[in-house]
Amino acid sequence: MNKRILLTGRLPLEIMASLTEKFEVDAHNEDIPFDRQKLLQRIRDKDGLISMITDTVDEEVLDNAASLKMIAHFGVGYNNIDVKAATARGILVSNTPGVLTDATAELAFALILSISRRLVECDKITRVGRFRYWAPMLFLGREVTGKTLGIIGLGEIGKAVARRAKGFDMRIIYNNRSRIDISEEKELNAEYVSLKTLLMEADFVSLHVPLTEHTKHLIGGEELSRMKPTAYLINTSRGPVVDEQALLEALRNRKIGGAGLDVYENEPALTPGLTELDNVILLPHVGSCTMETRVKMATMAAENLIAGLSGHVPPSLVNPEVLPKRRL
Ligand code: DGY
Repeated sequence: MNKRILLTGRLPLEIMASLTEKFEVDAHNEDIPFDRQKLLQRIRDKDGLISMITDTVDEEVLDNAASLKMIAHFGVGYNNIDVKAATARGILVSNTPGVLTDATAELAFALILSISRRLVECDKITRVGRFRYWAPMLFLGREVTGKTLGIIGLGEIGKAVARRAKGFDMRIIYNNRSRIDISEEKELNAEYVSLKTLLMEADFVSLHVPLTEHTKHLIGGEELSRMKPTAYLINTSRGPVVDEQALLEALRNRKIGGAGLDVYENEPALTPGLTELDNVILLPHVGSCTMETRVKMATMAAENLIAGLSGHVPPSLVNPEVLPKRRL
């Protein structure tokens, strides 16, 4: 009998076809998050799961999944999955690294340009007929060229942002858990600095760290108060990396220049008051949301699952320590 898999989101048709060829697929073929009760129910007899970032795969779910052998997560960040609990039960977990690097870096850069040149604000004004005349001091933004970009988390996405910043002649400073190779620093023209220095010197602070217990509220009131009053905060990583209430206050009191956000602390809910501000751009978590990237992510998740359920090592396994005790 074919292995049974649960898919909790709608994927491109060609990927669905390749999955149904190999597995008995139980799919939530819709663009709204999969209901938790349904997840608890329908995971019971499954060998594999393709999860979305909107599914919380915790001990309760795993305890309901006696035959589950593999979770192929559709996304690079997998903070919604209790990997430790999965490993303890012999369940493989994979993610989709690499393929969304450019899309996410593009979006971070789009936010850098849009917030500093006030594009969203200007669009709103123009739409409602308030573009009545040109004047030298109207709609003034701030230039990106030649400014200092502070990247927190210089992994693949952070590096892709740095490469784009070179095209704008930006000075690039970064802070990371550990310093990258000197040769790579040279190639990227990136200078390692402490978090404190980065916050004080950057005109744009762009976040590219995964969400872990160490990065939760990495940026809070104290960090925001170190930033220049003209600096912008860009977040395309995970919402809880920023204390959103502290950010709201900093934006409201014009303690920083503005923010470009794609992710939120209690997603999809926004901290009340954020939508009233004109110095913030708010996007609905679309960092990897391009046709090209979503097809690549789906392909990668399917390839990982097929490998894992055929007894092979999935190419993007995140918990290799599970292998000696994997469920077969
Ligand atoms: C990821 O892959 O972690 C993204 O946030 C999903 O778009």
